[in-house]
This record gives sequence, C-alpha cells and structure tokens, in this order.
Amino acid sequence: MTQILARLHQEHVQISKLLDLLDDLLAMFHAGQEPDYEILSELLQYMEDYSDQIHHPTEEVIRERLRLAGQNQPYLDVLTRQHEVLNEMTRNFRQAVEGVVNGEVQRRDQVEAYGREMIATLRAHLDLEEKEAFPLARQVLTEDDWAAIKAEVARTIDPRLSETDLQRIRAIVQHLTSQVRV
Ligand SMILES: [Fe+2]
Ligand SMILES: [Fe+2]
Repeated sequence: MTQILARLHQEHVQISKLLDLLDDLLAMFHAGQEPDYEILSELLQYMEDYSDQIHHPTEEVIRERLRLAGQNQPYLDVLTRQHEVLNEMTRNFRQAVEGVVNGEVQRRDQVEAYGREMIATLRAHLDLEEKEAFPLARQVLTEDDWAAIKAEVARTIDPRLSETDLQRIRAIVQHLTSQVRV
C-alpha cells in the first residue's frame, strides 16, 4: 500500500522541474532581464497552496504513523520544521516578486536572495525525503499502517486539483518556460 508514496514521489519530480525553471528565471533576473513577474507570482502561489493544503499534510500523516511505530529519528523533526519554514520562504519570495509587480522599490539582490533560499531549502528537503524518510516508511510501515494512512488522508485532505487549476498551471509553466528559452 505505497500508492501514497508513489504519488508524493511523482509530486517531487514535478516540484524538481519547477525548481529548475525557477533557477532559470532567477538567472535571467540576475542578468538584468525581466521575467513575467505576475505569472511567476501566480506559480509561487500555486506552489504555496499545494504544499500547504495537500503535499505537506499528506507527509505529516505518514510522519505521525512513523511516530506511532516508534520511529523518532531527528531528521523526521527536521522535515516537519522545514514544512513550516518552506511555506514562509515561498511566501517571502512571492511577496518580493509581487513588490516588483506593484512597482515597490525592491533591491534586486533581495528578491534573488529570497528565491535562492527557497530553492536551495526545498531541494535539500526533497532530497532528505527521497533518501531517508520515504525508504524508512517503506521499510517499517505495515499494510495496516498504510491502510490507516490512506483513511486519514481521505478523511482530512482532498488531493485533487480541479481541471481548471491543472490547465492554468500547465499554461503558467509553458509561458515561463518560453521566456527562459528565448
Ligand atoms: Fe516534505
Ligand atoms: Fe515532499
């Protein structure tokens, strides 16, 4: 019953691609070019919402089950703390980008610093989950644990994005990708 882990892994693959795109956009920004800030801010808002409402809560259900199974490795607490910190970092980056949209005087290096901080922390976070937390969950959790996790996720989290949201995200990614490929 590791369907849930497979889904989270798929989401990590998607998030990694978005981080590569954000890297490219920051490189563009660093070189003095102007990416589409409004669309970038919309992408960051989606990333923030999806993490906050779906991805992180699902991982936290697994984390709770690991705790019940007697697993208390310190890195599990690090991951939980990073969930909170990452939301804040994504928000900081988004708000800095929105500041540019609204014509507020922003130091470019500050916008870039927020972006780089968020990207680096999120990459390290994905890595820790893929290399440590997910293998641990696969190894120690039983079929019963996965059934309980599935029930809890179904009870508390709606993992689906609407078709409209999916289409919008695809359009956003396509638009931003076309900007960095110019
Ligand atoms: Fe996570
Ligand atoms: Fe994750």
